[in-house]
Amino acid sequence: MTDTFAGGGAAPEQVAPWWRSAVFYQVYPRSFADSNGDGVGDLGGLRDKLGYLELLGVDALWICPIMRSPMADGGYDVSDPRDIDPLFGSLELMDELIAEAHDRRMRVTMDLVPNHSSDQHPWFQAALAAGPGSPERARYLFRDGRGPDGGAPPNNWPSIFGGPAWTRIREADGRPGQWYLHLFAPEQPDLNWENPEVAADFEQTMRFWLQRGVDGFRIDVAHGMAKPPGLPDMETVDTRMLAHEDSDPRFNNPGVHRIHRGIRRIMDEYPHAVAIGEVWVNDNNRFGEYVRPDELHLAFNFRLAETPFAPDSIRAAVDNSLRAVTMVGASPTWTLSNHDIAREVTRYGGGAVGQARARAMMMLEMALPGAVFVYNGAELGLPNVDDLPDEVLQDPAWARSGHVERGRDGCRVPLPWEGERSPFGFTTGRPWLPIPAQWAQLTVERQLERLDSMLSLYRMAIELRAVRPEFAGPGLEWYGSPPGCLAFRRAGGLLCVLNATDSPIVLPAGEVLLSSAPITARKLPANSTAWLV
Ligand code: GLC
Repeated sequence: MTDTFAGGGAAPEQVAPWWRSAVFYQVYPRSFADSNGDGVGDLGGLRDKLGYLELLGVDALWICPIMRSPMADGGYDVSDPRDIDPLFGSLELMDELIAEAHDRRMRVTMDLVPNHSSDQHPWFQAALAAGPGSPERARYLFRDGRGPDGGAPPNNWPSIFGGPAWTRIREADGRPGQWYLHLFAPEQPDLNWENPEVAADFEQTMRFWLQRGVDGFRIDVAHGMAKPPGLPDMETVDTRMLAHEDSDPRFNNPGVHRIHRGIRRIMDEYPHAVAIGEVWVNDNNRFGEYVRPDELHLAFNFRLAETPFAPDSIRAAVDNSLRAVTMVGASPTWTLSNHDIAREVTRYGGGAVGQARARAMMMLEMALPGAVFVYNGAELGLPNVDDLPDEVLQDPAWARSGHVERGRDGCRVPLPWEGERSPFGFTTGRPWLPIPAQWAQLTVERQLERLDSMLSLYRMAIELRAVRPEFAGPGLEWYGSPPGCLAFRRAGGLLCVLNATDSPIVLPAGEVLLSSAPITARKLPANSTAWLV
């Protein structure tokens, strides 16, 4: 972070905003730490672990949804956006958490979900009761069905979680009635952002949390709120679940930018705060539109997370991510995983090789200019848990796909903190997803003791990134490197070298600041990264 914390110091125009190069730590609250023994992580658990996060060295937290929710999609189905769900705590606890995080010089950002509400939200319940054509229905996307009896959905869109994106309701008289749109689960009806009431309510929600001291928001499905006029059919129906293509009419409609400009006008009244959009858009120009100066401050770029451990693809991902934002003068963001994506250790091959590559990629990521997002558990090198028993799976994609798509629970298994046996200090009860016995090797307690652990590597990398002048400057320059390798230099002088071959390479001249694997005789081992100055 480059600016001072609570005011003071240089004039605002002289310092880069704090979020530009911050390391954010993503807390999936259900899985982070449980303080009351119900097996589900909560804000009390998070508060207890703030010391750990301070030690890790992160600048800011991003807390996944903690607002009131029936939890049909892990909290992304919000029934009251201006309250904390009792499963996670209370508003008082949130206030305490914000204050304590600030005392430890960590910012707090939280998820907001503008695209849809819960079907239990009072607005949706009122819409069901009120009937076709009512102002209550106009807050959502209700339509008559097609066909003589309106028995077919209004268009052919599938839901991201499988099955149709429309559900037919029964009207008050018990007869089959209109249909409502839900791009995600039926418990997540899409809001109608053409209706000014929707924007006004979102504004109220933003102000509610900003006034409580929150430092910004991660905006869920930020490419999804605007729908194409007339809700036309998809030309080719893409029934793949959780897939994202630029040609998809369900997302990335031009009207979304007016919404973001409205959000930004409110954010600008709270100049310390940041809005970060979840934007699944590949085209560089169209991605860049979201981070124009009057829209989002930052947008997630998922290219690095979607890239295999192969130098050409990594270089292309980095180049494209940089290009997409520099065209509009915005800052890049980097992430290797999140609560929707299989964990990187597994994606890179699992086992010792997966661990080595995840270490190497983390160092590559931390060497890049911009903001970095670390998903809880990545710092422990947790793998995906792909053999969870069927009966514990909770992702709506599992049920909606007729038990074909196992969904995202494998990357949401609770963190192992200490001890030799599950639940490893995560809870005193029964964890909401079982924790593998082998994670005894991966506990925080164990990794803190070892200098060669993933956790220690994260700590060192985050610290060096924060304090060393060699990380300064925007952009980077690619540096000649042997086949199967990558090297780039930052303006401040840092040289980052990644060896993706299966044998050691000789490092260029320079002092080694950090490496993801031990270096002997100036040789960088296979599947590893070194920083030189
Ligand atoms: C986002 C979230 C995901 C959620 C979906 C619906 O993609 O990251 O977890 O299921 O939105 O809100």
